[in-house]
Amino acid sequence: MNKKSDDWMDLYRKEPEPEEELVIPEGPILFYNELVQAHSTNPRNIGEIPGADGAALIGDPECGDQMELWIKVEAGKIQDIKFKSNGCAGAIAASSMCTELALGKTLDEAKQLTDDDIIIALEGVPEMSKNCSLSGIAALQAAIKDFESKGGAN
Ligand code: FES
Repeated sequence: MNKKSDDWMDLYRKEPEPEEELVIPEGPILFYNELVQAHSTNPRNIGEIPGADGAALIGDPECGDQMELWIKVEAGKIQDIKFKSNGCAGAIAASSMCTELALGKTLDEAKQLTDDDIIIALEGVPEMSKNCSLSGIAALQAAIKDFESKGGAN
């Protein structure tokens, strides 16, 4: 209320808010496809494995997000795999898909998995979130290393 008024009710009347100008962002826009959204909102293999054979804690120095991953190995195969992440939707989707791809694989097969395999399995991720998909595969490889460093007998 800028001008003086004799009507005391003006104290309780609000001036209309100025209309906000619609700003269309420039540059790349993030669009997660339906598969990525499905994995980020309903991630597979969430949780911990008590008494896991291998475990890893990975942090992303760029954004500070973390993820933990556990594997259970039997007869040289990943018999169970679980993860927890406080990462973004892209990181959670990629980690979820990573566990799906690794489950049931031999350790040698799981070691061959790459970030690209996850991105292909997710039918693509936006360019800007590609880095987020690295934590799952990094944690998987670190958990396998942890298993092997303990003797890797199972
Ligand atoms: S922003 Fe941190 S993992 Fe995506």
